[in-house]
Amino acid sequence: MEITNVSEYEAIAKEKLPKMVYDYYASGAEDQWTLKENRNAFSRILFRPRILIDVSKIDMTTTVLGFKLSMPIMIAPTAMQKMAHPEGEYATARAASAAGTIMTLSSWATSSVEEVASTGPGIRFFQLYVYKDRNVVAQLVRRAERAGFKAIALTVDTPRLGRREADIKNRFVLPPFLTLKNFEGLNLGKMDKTSDSGLASYVAGQIDRTLSWKLELQKQIIVQAGAAGIIVSNHGARQLDYVPATILALEEVVKAAQGRVPVFLDGGVRRGTDVFKALALGASGIFIGRPVLFSLAAEGEAGVRKVLQMLRDEFELTMALSGCRSLREITRDHIVTEWDHPHISPRL
Ligand code: FNR
Repeated sequence: MEITNVSEYEAIAKEKLPKMVYDYYASGAEDQWTLKENRNAFSRILFRPRILIDVSKIDMTTTVLGFKLSMPIMIAPTAMQKMAHPEGEYATARAASAAGTIMTLSSWATSSVEEVASTGPGIRFFQLYVYKDRNVVAQLVRRAERAGFKAIALTVDTPRLGRREADIKNRFVLPPFLTLKNFEGLNLGKMDKTSDSGLASYVAGQIDRTLSWKLELQKQIIVQAGAAGIIVSNHGARQLDYVPATILALEEVVKAAQGRVPVFLDGGVRRGTDVFKALALGASGIFIGRPVLFSLAAEGEAGVRKVLQMLRDEFELTMALSGCRSLREITRDHIVTEWDHPHISPRL
């Protein structure tokens, strides 16, 4: 079957992957209300397009933390990509680099920072979970820096793992032929099989639940200048269920940031129209998570390339049909939300 949009990869991945792996990738927490809402909320935002504008040239390029990108579509950190495909994070890194965009590597990747760096040039961020053992953290940050990673994406929503019931039922555990590569030499690369989710137990044992605004991080790691940006994320709806969709929380965060740092979004982005809506609400760019895993499972690197290309093409078309020739021309007035004018509210 010919793939014509990003969402179609999910069914193929479901067919190809062991149930334990597919469920781990696909699941949200508990009732999975936020999981559905991350998608549904996009569908309640409508367009106010402009017409009779020369859209023969569309410029999607942008700059993120000083790095020039071909488009504002980037790759979120997702753990354990070699469960999807033998090339795992290597394939994702190559696809991101070919598309001229950023890959964020998960702390819990099945390839190390050095291995990912060895795939060739590319702009890469490293996602950090703060372990109780701060020596582990300091070492890892140093290694990521040495391997050429350009920023640390600090995950702050995981003092404990959200309750993902499929993982509990499946007794989810990292397959024995894989390791959390970044931690291999530190004796933290394996996950024990437990009577519920092996990952939840791993987090309970290793991750620092005391992490707070006091973040000793400033002394201990490298964040002297404060945060260079904010990612509005609910962890792909995998942590606290019944938090709002990220696209609904975005505008408030953008306002609070007052332009001091760029604000990004992830969660449920599956269409070029979603990218446009996020930018119209003030995001400087978006990240995708599951589409990478599902396309990786279906077609490896070629699949991830195709996902990035399809989103790029759809976003370009959305810009053209809305009358926007550059990202700067995308404004709040190009969309209507439920909290705008009641008479043309999408929820009628
Ligand atoms: C994630 N996410 C995540 N985040 C993080 O900071 N470190 C991690 O290791 C992971 N791992 C991970 C695994 C899987 C299977 C998923 C689905 C998600 C969250 C991820 O970075 C991102 O927030 C969401 O994936 C975005 O939502 P979508 O695009 O998947 O809807």
